[in-house]
Amino acid sequence: MKSVAKAHANIALIKYWGKEDEQLFLPSTSSLSLTLDKLYTITSVSESDRDVFVLNRQIQNEKETQKISRFVDLFRTNNQSVKIESINYFPTAAGLASSASGYSALSVALNDFFGHHYDVEQLSMLTRRGSGSATRSLFGGFVKWEKGSNDQSVATPIEKEMDIEMIIVIVNEQQKKKDSRSLMKVTKEQSRYFESWTQYNDIDMQEMLTAIENEDIHQIGKIAERNAMMMHATLLAIEEPFFYIEPQSLEVISLIQELRQQGIVAYYTMDAGPNVKIITNSQHRPLILERLSAYQTIVAQKGPGATLL
Ligand code: ADP
Ligand code: DP6
Repeated sequence: MKSVAKAHANIALIKYWGKEDEQLFLPSTSSLSLTLDKLYTITSVSESDRDVFVLNRQIQNEKETQKISRFVDLFRTNNQSVKIESINYFPTAAGLASSASGYSALSVALNDFFGHHYDVEQLSMLTRRGSGSATRSLFGGFVKWEKGSNDQSVATPIEKEMDIEMIIVIVNEQQKKKDSRSLMKVTKEQSRYFESWTQYNDIDMQEMLTAIENEDIHQIGKIAERNAMMMHATLLAIEEPFFYIEPQSLEVISLIQELRQQGIVAYYTMDAGPNVKIITNSQHRPLILERLSAYQTIVAQKGPGATLL
């Protein structure tokens, strides 16, 4: 028997950065994202005599296998071992949310493989424990993940049809130097701005919900931009300051600022990596792409939730 699932990555407009409870993956902030059509993962789960994890056609080492085995344990029945084969159809660990689509696809496949029939709320709580951002990839379009408390922390979709697109500018597709999990832990422990970050995040979330309700692309972009930069600012205030932003990221940001002065809808967000995501709409996309012709780009629109294939 083999269970196969597909899930799309999501990029946060309001970021998750910091955990209140590391075991339960309870986040310090609520977050909100857009699931993207062009970035996705396909994962299969089949029987095996020991747990094996093959990512992008490469057998993973002991550490990666143990990490995924612990997650499988949340679903496992009868001590059944599994072979997990997964392919990310975009760069892995480059700040493009491979852990989000990866763990979301895996949850859906494991739910089927072990015959659980968990509903989306139960699945959201379990998926979170693979990778926080993965809980948002269970759903399509705009998704809100409430920080909640006592393990009650789930993602829910926000029903809204609007013209919004993301242009992903790949300035570097290498694997990141520091993974988001350990760096968000250090941020929570050390950053002088961490408390402010959580407080302003609440304000940004309220304003973002209103902006989405009003389909106001300018407000959505503006709030997403300041929220992302505030997340990055927390990293500048740790004992050994760290930045994911690279010189080329800044070049792209300057270009976006220039375009905006010319009346183009273009705002940016960045995650745990140097790649820049531009928030725009279908009308302004061609002009932005023309100006960014020197860069490798992926144009993404709203993508669907995770599904069993
Ligand atoms: P990203 O920015 O791509 O999300 P992270 O450092 O947050 O990078 O996550 C990358 C890690 O997520 C990988 O090292 C691996 O452990 C895990 N991961 C990536 N893709 C998958 C996948 N398809 N299935 C399961 N785990 C995955
Ligand atoms: C910057 O979900 O990868 O992309 O829960 O430890 O697996 P873990 O972290 P992860 O962190 C994502 C951080 C982010 C912001 C976001 O997606 O909200």
